[in-house]
Amino acid sequence: MTLIVGLDIGTTKVCCLAVRRHADGTLQPVGYGVAPCRGLRQGQVVDMEQTVAAIQQAVHEAQTMGEITITGAIVGATGEHIESMQRRAEITITRPDREVTAEDLERLRLQLQQVHLPPDRELMHTLIRQYILDGQPGIINPLGMSASHLQAEATLITGSITFLQNLRRSVERAGLEVQAMVLEPYASGLAVLSPEEREVGAALIDIGGGTTDVAAFKENGLVFSSAVPIGGNQVTRDVYILFRLANPEEAERLKREYGSALAARVPEEERVSYREMGTQVERRVPRRLFSEVIEERMREILELARDELQRSGLYNELAAGIVLTGGGSSLPCTAELGRQVFDGLPVRIGAPQIGSIQLPSALQHPAFATAVGLTLYGALTQPDPPTAPMPAQLWQRIVQKFKRWFKHSS
Ligand SMILES: Nc1ncnc2c1ncn2[C@@H]1O[C@H](COP(=O)(O)OP(=O)(O)OP(=O)(O)O)[C@@H](O)[C@H]1O
Ligand SMILES: [Mg+2]
Repeated sequence: MTLIVGLDIGTTKVCCLAVRRHADGTLQPVGYGVAPCRGLRQGQVVDMEQTVAAIQQAVHEAQTMGEITITGAIVGATGEHIESMQRRAEITITRPDREVTAEDLERLRLQLQQVHLPPDRELMHTLIRQYILDGQPGIINPLGMSASHLQAEATLITGSITFLQNLRRSVERAGLEVQAMVLEPYASGLAVLSPEEREVGAALIDIGGGTTDVAAFKENGLVFSSAVPIGGNQVTRDVYILFRLANPEEAERLKREYGSALAARVPEEERVSYREMGTQVERRVPRRLFSEVIEERMREILELARDELQRSGLYNELAAGIVLTGGGSSLPCTAELGRQVFDGLPVRIGAPQIGSIQLPSALQHPAFATAVGLTLYGALTQPDPPTAPMPAQLWQRIVQKFKRWFKHSS
């Protein structure tokens, strides 16, 4: 039995999710904790003490709920500092039997990683999309096959050493070992996109509090990743400032209760009542006007995400469309606004899933896509338990389905 722990350190909250993997390969969520966090801005640690305290609180809650001890975690990272680049590399196989071995794949991986990185950047992932065997493309797993020339195409993900180190240090100061640093939209993609969507081409847009992460998947691999430095908190801030609300917390509450990403969908006669900043004056504004402010910012966020996808050159290849997730996507009518911004492409809101496993109801929300995805990443990359998995188990079948894709892109 192994414990897999995902730690999503976000701009608004830290979420720690612990999942138990049984000897038969089945996964079972055992504990989670969520703590508010103000220690990050746009994915960057700006207050380490607050970040450490929030991590400790979330981990403590998860430990108590699951009656477990957590010593390490798979940690998510995001922000504008993350960059993706495409790489192709080739090796020659000179042995007489020409059989592709694990050592060859490792040699090829090292070759892919031979890029000149500026001294302030580190490599986070080498995500192999496909192998090409003597000119034949589309090979997913060449192990045991025969070839003279083996090529691979990969997406390399890099991040700022300083940003990543500060995140790592925060987790370590909270008393945990960092088992892996994982690109957040990549993890979210594991939790909300179906294998079919990743195969035919889809974009994942995670509207968080401080950042909106963009990732494009195609042919079962991550092909692009980027981040826009605004998210749902900016929407709250607009409402707070423009309507002169008493405090940001009130703005957040009213946004959640009365906000809509499409003002036209709000009944004209409805009103939002609130007390104006610094006064006892009761204000009543049309709910539609309130939502116009929200719509404007939500539209901007989605347009910026669309610009990133256009910049990637992949925008016209997203046949399965766009999946929106993250807490910011839970405003009513966000998918409909998305269809306007994304030129009629299919747009849906994605909540996290672990196959058909029942997630605790509190986690069945777009805001927890990353935390769930981090545990999926762990389940797929950490070695299998010693006993043979039971193929009859539903979860096991799902893991196998993922694995084919994943083995070559982690
Ligand atoms: N029910 C809701 N309706 C509208 N907005 C919501 C709702 N729930 C959460 N949000 C918004 O979602 C945002 C937080 O999303 P999320 O929890 O995914 O962010 P995070 O992971 O902490 O931040 P980031 O990913 O930017 O580091 C906040 O701006 C919040 O206002
Ligand atoms: Mg997030």
